[in-house]
Formats: sequence, C-alpha cells, structure tokens
Amino acid sequence: MRFKKVSSLVALIVTLFSTATFAQRTDSIPIRHNVSLNQAHKGTLEIDSLLLDSYTRLPTNVRQFYLEARSIFEGNGADFTDERIVAAAAKNGIPLMSGPMLGDIKENGVSVWLRTASKLPIEIDVTDLARMKVKVYTSNPRVAGQVERVVLSDLSPQSKYSYSVKVQGSEVAEGTFQTTSKIGETSELRLAFASDFHKIGLHNPNLMDAILKRNPIAMLLLGDLAVDDRDTNLSMHRADYLLRDLSQPWKKLSANVSLYAAWDDHDYLNNDLSGLPEGVSNEDREALRKLWSENWNNPENDTPGIYFNTRIGAVEVIMLDTRSFRENDRRGEYNSYLGAAQLKWLKDVLAKSTAPYKLITSGTMWSDYISDGKDSWGTWDTLAREEIYQLIETENIPGVLLLSGDRHGARSFTIPRNSGFEFYEFGPASLGGVPGPEAIAKDSSKQLFGYLGLGLKAFGEFTFTMEGEAPQVTFRLIDEYGNIMEEHEISYDQLIPQKR
Ligand SMILES: [Fe+2]
Repeated sequence: MRFKKVSSLVALIVTLFSTATFAQRTDSIPIRHNVSLNQAHKGTLEIDSLLLDSYTRLPTNVRQFYLEARSIFEGNGADFTDERIVAAAAKNGIPLMSGPMLGDIKENGVSVWLRTASKLPIEIDVTDLARMKVKVYTSNPRVAGQVERVVLSDLSPQSKYSYSVKVQGSEVAEGTFQTTSKIGETSELRLAFASDFHKIGLHNPNLMDAILKRNPIAMLLLGDLAVDDRDTNLSMHRADYLLRDLSQPWKKLSANVSLYAAWDDHDYLNNDLSGLPEGVSNEDREALRKLWSENWNNPENDTPGIYFNTRIGAVEVIMLDTRSFRENDRRGEYNSYLGAAQLKWLKDVLAKSTAPYKLITSGTMWSDYISDGKDSWGTWDTLAREEIYQLIETENIPGVLLLSGDRHGARSFTIPRNSGFEFYEFGPASLGGVPGPEAIAKDSSKQLFGYLGLGLKAFGEFTFTMEGEAPQVTFRLIDEYGNIMEEHEISYDQLIPQKR
C-alpha cells in the first residue's frame, strides 16, 4: 500500500480538525435549508418540502405535482398508476414522473428506467458521439405511471453516446453514457460508490456534479438512500421515491451514470431493523422487495430478494442483501445474517467468477473496528463471514475488495488474516453529510483513514487498471467540491491471497 496524497497521520489530523482544509469551488451552489438526519427520519410534509428546495428552488409546477401526489400517497394504498396521481401530473405539465435512471451498463448496451405520466409512446434517440450515427428505440407504456425499462442494445463497446428521451416528439430528458470495454479486453475502468444519502444528499447539486466530473462508468449505492424509516407503509415508500425522482440534481446523476443499489435498514424498514421484526409479515417483506426492485434499475437476476451480481468490464459486482434475510431470533448463529441460500449463492458467484476484480458490498460493516461491529457481521454471523474469507483464501480468489455502508463518515481498514493476507474494506457512508460514530477506531493500526460524518459530503471511487507491468486499483475519497481527500493505490498482487 502506498499513501500517495494524504498520509495516515494527516488523515488523523484532518479527522480531528474537520475537513475545512479543502477548497470550496467558487461555482458551488450554497445550501438554503439544512435538514438534519433526525428530520429526514421523520419525513413530515414540511421537512420533505424543505428538502425539495434545499439548494435551488424547484419549478413551481414540479413542486405542485409533488405536493398533490404526496397528499394522495399520505392517504395510503396508492401507487404511481393511481388515476389521481396521473391526473396531477397532467394538470401540472409533468410528462415524466421519474427517471431517466441508467443501469446495467454493458459492452453493447444500457438500460434506461423511467416512469411516464401517460400511455403515449416513448422514443429514445441515441447518438454515437464518435460517428454521429443515430439509433432510435421506442416503447409503448401500457399503463400511465408504470415503470418502463428500455434497453438500448446493439451498441459498440467502449463508446460514448448521448441520448434524448421524447414523448410525442418533445424532448423530456437527455443524458450521456459510455459502454464498457469487451470482457477480456483490458482498459481503465472507473466506478464510484458510497452510501447514506438519507434523502438529504439526493438534492445536493455540488455532490452530483463532483461525481459526474470524475466520469465514472457506474456508481454503486450501498443503502440508506431515498426511503427513510417508512416501515411497511408502501405508499410512503413511493412518496420518498417521488421526492428523489423530482430532485434535479438526482435526475442529472441518474441520467448520466449507471446506478446499482442495495438497501440497508432505513430503506428496508427503520433504524437497525432487519428480517421480520414484530408486526412485519413475510408478505410485507415480499412487497418491500418488489417495490425496491421497481424503483431501482438493477440488472435482472433470478435470486429471491434484492441481491444480485453483474459484470461491469473487468469487475464482478456482487451486491448483497444484508437486511431482509436476517433471522432475529438466531442472531449470533451461523447463517443468521445472509441466510443459507444467499450465502451459498455468494460462494458460488465467487468461485465461478472469471473477473479480475470482485467487489462485495454489505450494507453494514465487514470489520468490527467501529462500534464493535454493532448491527453488523461481527455481532450477527462471524462464522459465515469466516467461511467467505476462507473460501477466498483457500481457492486463491484474486481481486476481492470489500465495500460497506451504514457507519456515517468515511473509513477504510485492512482486515489481517493468519495467512498473512489482508482484505481491504472501504466505507464511504458520506453522501448525506450526516453525523455518525467515531472516525478512528480504538486500535487504529489497521486503519487507512477515517473521517467523521457530520458535514462530510463525499464519495468513494475505484480506478482499475489491468494494463502493463503492474495492474492496480486506486481508491480515492472525493468531496462535494471535487477535492481528492484520500488516494491509495493497491497493487493487484496485494489482492491475491496466495501470492508467491
Ligand atoms: Fe445511515
């Protein structure tokens, strides 16, 4: 490990004396309304309305649509296809309730997720920016307000495209994307990742611009994102998704970078809740999983629940469901955390993957350094965790990186093994700038860096290279103004368990 930009000592000093040493861009947009984490958890109409205008004022018609739809969602039982919500969209001149959200980026295509407010045909014109050739894709929604996914297929690898979404000939949205290189071909690949928008960060234009300026091909979102503490009230889950989808900064992010998401406690039910707590039925859990899948644009998979794996160029992305399979009455026992089926699936994916790099995400911590592993692997299922670690070591599975969310702030650790191998864990839980636990572990000898949560609006980024003599991955922690706070290089050799 080489510490390129910020030494661990400096990181500790920065941790102690805030992050104000980094420059704020002069073109950044100042915040107008500070909404606290506790307010976001409450999510009253007044609080959510403040979020809408927390940086820039929403156009009046968009705001009015939100208020009218929200009042219908508050009444419970409604979904986006409810005729009153469709009518409110029409009345306020809103052709697109949600999206576009890009997802499932491949060498030859991408998925565009959106929710139009009518049954009018959708046309997406895609321009190959190198050759200026245009392809047209169409979709015919059967129901107004229902999610559509349009797959833009037959595109060229590693190519830049722009697209325009049209309804009745009028452009309603636009964006850009870049396809991945062909599997097996080596090229640099950049992925962003982080967690904990807690609704608040979804409205931050500075953060979204900072992410887009880095030009990641995709972004992984690791929980506590758009829905906050709505328990089993499905209509209020939808109200929170609408709050997300009407945010202009969010729209800009989701239209220009492919997103992959997994949930944590606040998206699923409420603080530290998991599995089936008292009052939550199996049907509720199934409905929550279905609603989640509808409102994100994750790759299709045949797993039960919301976990999935997918290949993005040289990277196998494995996003776990570390919430809904927990078995509360078996806490601390083997298989109480992921459940038997998900654990078996994970082991199969790891064993079979031919990708040089494998990212495994967990909504909560892999390691136990912070909060003594509270509500995480360390207090739920150390046996299954050990089994995963051992599988990677004994099968000599290279290129595994562990990602986690939940503990607000941003930290990274190594996890040493008896064999001498070390796993790396990165946890930038800093999309919302909300307070959290200690920045630095009691034993900081395995810590690469640590920052407190309050005020830290930042994301993580991996740049993977497989070219040349020394393939490596570079991690960066980048703040909302584009300042690189941390830069750490890990050589590929360091990610091979049985390196001789
Ligand atoms: Fe959180």
